Amino acid sequence: MSGTVPLLELIEVSKAFGAFQALREVSLAIEAGRTLALVGDNGAGKSTLIKILCGVHQPDSGSILFEGRQIAMRSPREARHLGIATVYQDLALIDTLSIARNFFLGAELKRRVAGLRLLDMRTMRARTEDYLATVGISRLRSPDEIVAMLSGGERQAIAIARAMYFGARLLILDEPTSALSVRETRSVLDFVRHANAQGIAAILISHNINQVMPIADRIVALHQGQVAAVFNRDEADAATVEQVIMNGRDGLPGNRASPVPAQPSDRGHRTRPQPGAEEEP
Ligand SMILES: Nc1ncnc2c1ncn2[C@@H]1O[C@H](COP(=O)(O)OP(=O)(O)OP(=O)(O)O)[C@@H](O)[C@H]1O
Ligand SMILES: [Mg+2]
Repeated sequence: MSGTVPLLELIEVSKAFGAFQALREVSLAIEAGRTLALVGDNGAGKSTLIKILCGVHQPDSGSILFEGRQIAMRSPREARHLGIATVYQDLALIDTLSIARNFFLGAELKRRVAGLRLLDMRTMRARTEDYLATVGISRLRSPDEIVAMLSGGERQAIAIARAMYFGARLLILDEPTSALSVRETRSVLDFVRHANAQGIAAILISHNINQVMPIADRIVALHQGQVAAVFNRDEADAATVEQVIMNGRDGLPGNRASPVPAQPSDRGHRTRPQPGAEEEP
């Protein structure tokens, strides 16, 4: 056992939509300052799992622990309150607004002038500029720049920076790099590492194993709503992960239908399905 209490832990979480079982006893854990990659084919249950973590869906059964305490995440507001921030590829920022306006969207700073409450643009600008500089987004010329002018990678970085500024402790990034160039992808992933270095955990959902493998501390492969395998950094090779994504546990080399450990606390950091499962037959 690692001895550290995970920031977030799911224990045997299940979710059905009508007769369709979208998630089946999913257990996983993520520690502060770590990145977990959640991979799986279309329909594997990734978005459903994320929606449970950000309070959009309620699980039918199972538990969610935050810093070791069982919690009920009944709404997105409750999730945000805990510091769980979800950044979606497309919905992250509003194109027609400036960087500073986007940064404070929904949390605008106001000042009172002659009895009127006006936007305090000066402070919002200054804080945006300062914060983006501290997180290393230095290429921006001005917080007044309209977001439509930015590259996809810069937008992602700003959306992540905003979540960090407002106290995110767990960033959930749904396909953060799907529309990005190789260079932009690298800068977003560097940015996630930067967040990790500040103790912020991240869950990356991706279809592209090769992109997430270099940055993920742990890879959780979902298959038909179940955790088919959990790989730690350096244990995984892309070909095996891909096999598991396509075929579930049958895709594991030397698979003997060994059960995936149900309790994250049993796994600690040794998260391969079972001793021996990774050996070649
Ligand atoms: N609100 C819903 N009502 C009914 N079925 C749903 C609902 N949300 C998801 N599903 C079903 O649950 C399954 C898992 O969907 P989910 O969106 O979690 O998959 P995913 O892994 O995110 O896939 P993708 O890679 O395509 O985004 C799918 O078969 C989907 O049709
Ligand atoms: Mg999805």
